[in-house]
Amino acid sequence: MANELRFDDQVVVITGAGAGLGREYAKLLASRGAKVVVNDLGGSRHGDGGGASKAADEVVKEIVAAGGQAVADYNSVEQGDKIIETAIRHWKRVDVLINNAGILRDITIKNMTDKDWDVIMAVHLTGAYKTTRAAWPYFRKQRYGRVINTSSSSGLFGNFGQSNYAGKSTAKLALVGFTETLAKEGGKYNITANVLAPGAASRLTETIWPPDMMNVMAPAWVAPLVATLVHASCKESGSIFEAAAGHYSKVRWVRSKGLVLRADDSLTPGALLKGWAKVRDFRDAEHPTRVADSMALLQEALQLPPNEPGESLDFAGKVALVT
Ligand code: NAI
Repeated sequence: MANELRFDDQVVVITGAGAGLGREYAKLLASRGAKVVVNDLGGSRHGDGGGASKAADEVVKEIVAAGGQAVADYNSVEQGDKIIETAIRHWKRVDVLINNAGILRDITIKNMTDKDWDVIMAVHLTGAYKTTRAAWPYFRKQRYGRVINTSSSSGLFGNFGQSNYAGKSTAKLALVGFTETLAKEGGKYNITANVLAPGAASRLTETIWPPDMMNVMAPAWVAPLVATLVHASCKESGSIFEAAAGHYSKVRWVRSKGLVLRADDSLTPGALLKGWAKVRDFRDAEHPTRVADSMALLQEALQLPPNEPGESLDFAGKVALVT
């Protein structure tokens, strides 16, 4: 098709591409001309085992059989530099990095061991850091790069009743801050970085969702968003997207206009309580995207007269903490 998004001559690294979502990204991008490094260490969904080359090999076979170009890489994302080396060794460049590899450990905070915590952090967070850190000098040098980091709605919103995601939620939200910073540092080098919170039927979700939900959640429906975001023509950066079952949306921060108090001895809990309704009033809310967005408010605080003492510290009376 003349007007389809193409990725000819682009070298794309996709971690955890031996199954689920990553496999769909690999197949779609390869079908549109990309040279794909299919990374997967072939471990269990809990992150045990590994070293089974089969998962990545199968996807490479599928891509090559369809006329595309792909190579397998079996390193853990914890050695992300080796994954980038595979791209450089084969094709001498890297243009797109999709940090997708992931595992689950179903465990509540009460029962969690340090090992459960550490392995989740190592794969989701350190893994994304290691591959990105290794690709970054190439992106900067060629003044071009596209990064996708994979978050999760459990990271963005928490998920009552799924405390098994406890460690993962933390790592997944950390990836938002990581990505927002990459977008700022990469801006002048034409490096974009975005966050994806996907939803799809895979071995990670098979024990969580009922079968009828699994049927409509094909991983293939997430791939078009990924392809759009990593295309050279897409300048979107520092953003968070959700994609599942054909629904795509963008998520952003929202901050109440808030209350500004003079910062001196008159700033007491009572004075704060007096203006509490303003703190939590989302009419005229703002959508901050930079640390500097709050600096103007601090300047404003310096100009204010001393605060009036608050009436009472009794939240139960005039001031409601929750609606
Ligand atoms: P999946 O289990 O089908 O695929 C993940 C792949 O990552 C597996 O093939 C696994 O072998 C590989 N992997 C695991 N640890 C690795 C490591 N250390 N190094 C290299 N490869 C490794 O899971 P799915 O659902 O495709 O997940 C992809 C990403 O999307 C994950 O980051 C997951 O947390 C995230 N996600 C998925 C959701 C869903 O609804 N499926 C929801 C929210 C987030």
